[in-house]
Order: sequence, then structure tokens, then C-alpha cells
Amino acid sequence: MMKRFICFLFILFLMPLCAFAEDMNNETELGGRLFLINREHPIGKDYFPRDLMEPKVLGGGEATRMRPEAAAALEEMFAAAKEEGLYLAAVSGYRSYGQQASIFERKLEKVDKQTAMRTVAPAGCSEHQLGLAMDLGTKKETRLTEAFARTPEGQWVAANAHRFGFIIRYKAEWEAVTGYAWEPWHIRYVGKTHARKIYELNIPLEEYIDRQAGSYVVVEEEGENTR
Ligand code: DAL
Ligand code: ZN
Repeated sequence: MMKRFICFLFILFLMPLCAFAEDMNNETELGGRLFLINREHPIGKDYFPRDLMEPKVLGGGEATRMRPEAAAALEEMFAAAKEEGLYLAAVSGYRSYGQQASIFERKLEKVDKQTAMRTVAPAGCSEHQLGLAMDLGTKKETRLTEAFARTPEGQWVAANAHRFGFIIRYKAEWEAVTGYAWEPWHIRYVGKTHARKIYELNIPLEEYIDRQAGSYVVVEEEGENTR
């Protein structure tokens, strides 16, 4: 009798977890996986998302390609902002390993290594290589600076990006965890359910993934999406 009761409790406990994992798997083409990439979890130079596309948004083009699901979410987000009279611009989306290496090298020519490391990911460590990140500007200003956070567009993004499946990836107070300085312009697609939870918890992706570990695959280094 006792055994049956314990078994019942166990199933009761597992059910919501399974349902959560199931939601995740059904929600996104990414199978709910939270691709983690940072200096501790780099990806190879051959990692290349084969399904990149140009989002049809202001600033959209070759330099702002994303994976289809993220591109569609971006289009939805830009349209919603426009309804409120706000004009976002896409600035930088997918970047290859080589492009990221050049950006890092150029930064090193201007600043010391420590500063470069806080602001630009070394090649193989950038989320941009996933095709799931976007740097945002406005119609008037596409330079990526902290001033973006003070624009109506930047404020709207901070408050609404999660509704479209994006998170603000690098907040000032998370630098010790993420390894990067504040980037109010850098959004990362994780799907709507994860984005809402991360927004509500107000924690960095690394911590969110730690909390979720075990319920589904969270780290994908080189998988079916590699060339
Ligand atoms: N600026 C971010 C960290 C990158 O280079 O991916
Ligand atoms: Zn970025």
C-alpha cells in the first residue's frame, strides 16, 4: 500500500516536469534545446546553421541572417514595435567563426585584451555563430552603444522582447556569470516559454540552464545543425 502511494507521489511529481519538457519540444523547431555558447562552451569553426535566412525587417540583409524560427520571431517583434510607433533596426545577426575572429582582432587593435574580452566574444564563443542572436539599433541610430537602452525602442525591447521569444542576454549585473559587459542591444532567441521564464526569473541564461539541467538537453555543441 505504502509502495503504491510513494509510486503515485513520484508520478505526480514527474508529470509537470514531463509536460514542461514536452511543451519545450513542441514549441520550437529547435526542439526546445537551449543552445549554450560562451567562453566555457565554445563551438567549432565549422559550426554553420544551414537554414539561415534574411529577416524582412528594417536593416535586414546578408549581415542580419538568422535561423528561420528566430527570423520569424524578429519580424513579429519589429511589427509589434512599429504598431506603437517604434522603429527598430536589425544590425548584426549570424556571424561566421572567421568574421568573429576578425571583429575580435580589430577590437584588440583599439583596446587592451581585458577590455576586448569583456565586449567581444573570441571566435567560436559568440552566440552570433548560432544564428539565434541579433544586435539591435533604431531607425535613427545603428551604432551599438548603451545609449540604445535609453531610447524608447530600447526600453520597449527590454520590456517586451520575451513576448517574442528573445532574452536580453548580457545585463550589467550578470557580468561575473556571462563574462560580458552590458549589451542592451544584444537579444538572443530561446523560444517564448523559456524567454518568459527567464524574464520573470531575471537570471542569466547560464543560471537558467543550470536550474533546468536534467529535464532536457540544454547544451548542443556540434549536432545535426553542423556542416
Ligand atoms: N558582443 C558579444 C558578446 C559577441 O561578440 O558575441
Ligand atoms: Zn551581439
